[in-house]
Amino acid sequence: MSKVVVIDHPLIQHKLSIIRSEETGSKDFRDLVREVALLMAYEITRDLPLEEVEVKTPVALAKCRKLAGEKIGVIPILRAGLGMVEPILELYPTARVGHVGLYRDPETLKPVEYYCKLPSDLAERDLIVVDPMIATGGSLVAAIDLVKRKGGRRIKVLSLIAVPEGIKAVQEAHPDVDIFTAAIDDYLNDHAYIVPGLGDAGDRLFGTK
Ligand code: PRP
Ligand code: URA
Repeated sequence: MSKVVVIDHPLIQHKLSIIRSEETGSKDFRDLVREVALLMAYEITRDLPLEEVEVKTPVALAKCRKLAGEKIGVIPILRAGLGMVEPILELYPTARVGHVGLYRDPETLKPVEYYCKLPSDLAERDLIVVDPMIATGGSLVAAIDLVKRKGGRRIKVLSLIAVPEGIKAVQEAHPDVDIFTAAIDDYLNDHAYIVPGLGDAGDRLFGTK
């Protein structure tokens, strides 16, 4: 079974509490999601392999370690996942970005696919699927299904808030995919919104209703 890791660094928890507040407007919401995603990306890439290199400083040769050429792919689930892409690209400028467009049908709550564009060399990349919310888990399961069908193999998930039922759905469908999140909330309400959650992540990021 895959790992579920709650990244409870104090800075992340502090910022998440402001993100959740209904008083936080779109600009601050976007800025904070970005900051939290950056801190989380730093944490989840602790296991990237390094290789020894020699660097000539102005004084002498230094034995250093550099990333061993690992190829990264970031895959946001549209729309809300977009808010987490830029900070990862800041850390890994050579990462490629794939997009998966899914929305939850408000009646059935099932994900509906409307867009998919992924890097052609998915199989060679360490992939990070990003979406701030794991509610029923349906969107994430569908996105990972798609990524795997196109050849993706080494996949991690980065989210801000999940609930136990969503995590269970993802783990059952994709037991090889580890999930990193900043919080595991209580439950889903009758409209499958996370309680207490933060409301509709896409709407809050982009100022829509
Ligand atoms: C939200 C969120 C996830 C999905 C989670 O997207 O960003 O993708 O819901 O719900 P689930 O786990 O029950 O599938 P939404 O469908 O609202 O689309 P949007 O990002 O375009 O607003
Ligand atoms: N999608 C959101 O944006 N928020 C929720 O609480 C659940 C799904």
